[in-house]
Amino acid sequence: MTGFSFQTARSIICEPGAIKRLGTIAAEYGISRVLVVTDKGIVSAGLLEQALGGLESGGISAFVYSDVVADPPEQVVLEALALAMAQGVDGVIGFGGGSSMDVAKLVSFLSISRQSLAEIYGVGLAKGSRLPLIQVPTTAGTGSEVTPVAIVTTGASEKKGVVAPQLLPDVAVLDADLTLKLPPLVTATTGLDAMVHAIEASTSKIKKNPLSDMLAREAMKLLFGNIRNSVSDGNNQVDRSNMLLGSMLAGQAFANAPVGAVHALALPVGGHFHVAHGLANAILLPHVMRFNAPVAAGEYASLARLLWPNYENESDLSLSERMIAELEELMRDIKLQTTLRQVGVEEKHLPVLAEDAMKQQRLLVNNPRDVSYQDALSIYTQAL
Ligand SMILES: NC(=O)c1ccc[n+]([C@@H]2O[C@H](COP(=O)([O-])OP(=O)(O)OC[C@H]3O[C@@H](n4cnc5c(N)ncnc54)[C@H](O)[C@@H]3O)[C@@H](O)[C@H]2O)c1
Ligand SMILES: [Fe+2]
Repeated sequence: MTGFSFQTARSIICEPGAIKRLGTIAAEYGISRVLVVTDKGIVSAGLLEQALGGLESGGISAFVYSDVVADPPEQVVLEALALAMAQGVDGVIGFGGGSSMDVAKLVSFLSISRQSLAEIYGVGLAKGSRLPLIQVPTTAGTGSEVTPVAIVTTGASEKKGVVAPQLLPDVAVLDADLTLKLPPLVTATTGLDAMVHAIEASTSKIKKNPLSDMLAREAMKLLFGNIRNSVSDGNNQVDRSNMLLGSMLAGQAFANAPVGAVHALALPVGGHFHVAHGLANAILLPHVMRFNAPVAAGEYASLARLLWPNYENESDLSLSERMIAELEELMRDIKLQTTLRQVGVEEKHLPVLAEDAMKQQRLLVNNPRDVSYQDALSIYTQAL
């Protein structure tokens, strides 16, 4: 075994109904005035009220920034930061999907840093500490509550990442009750995002390790086993708890064994065409898997044997193809779009997408097979 290191959130609370004691949890981390970072969808779903109720019962003063939008642009981070500074908060809570949690991470760091947002894009460039940070996911998808990553849209369409250990929270609070009303389409897209995290962590070229493998495997079992039911009948607490746990385990896996070409090729699609992150990943997943299969069939087959033990005697290549077909069937069953054309991409856009994908070297270096510009173009063409 080669050496490895592993980081995650300091503390994880996994408990339906935990939101009711959010104030007590915040107080344990020395928070008395907190900024809650969220979006309008969470407010209209009636979830913010629950978070504020929980904070009030713990005697915490709460200020709310609820203007986060999907794939948050820099402006959103700066506005939330201005509110945090104006109110002199001593802690930050990310309350929502990956978009809200990513903004919360950056606000908690930038509130007490001399560095600007522009200075910290990249890996390990953020220096110093942050305000106490609590993450409460309301989607079972990004795993952002346990990743040291924040993704921001810069300019019109480019997505950039800040990767720094400070972005891991003090505590991640997983309350599956918050996900019971997650609409079927968001359940499907975010669930697929989580599955892609597990699959790409399993094939991550440089940092894959025994812990990330174990987490990715358990995540795949939970996610694959519960996604169909969660989409068709969202109100089942057991299915939802399994999805939330699965997405968190997949987050821990890819936080330590980073994702590769599916994400590298999906990010430009999200950036240019405002396609939900999980959907862009889902559309590209089968095509990247087929591209990777010559070198990654063993890993894919190992996941497939876990999900379909009856087929364990099949060859790696055949099992890997079976897994791709099963994933395609799953996407059709949960009513996801499956081609780039369906989300507005045309052939003329592919060269720009391929050029942008090549800028995601931070991700491409983790892919099990090297990806050239021509490879990216051909994968996009197959996904069209
Ligand atoms: N930091 C990371 O490690 C990481 C990993 C993957 C993706 N991302 C980023 O995360 C973002 C995507 O996050 P996401 O997929 O969770 O989506 P999101 O945060 O953009 O939310 C999607 C929609 O779902 C709604 N919603 C969320 N929870 C709800 C609930 N319980 N009930 C009803 N509606 C609800 C929101 O209002 C929003 O309209 C992208 O910006 C992506 O780049 C970050
Ligand atoms: Fe993702």
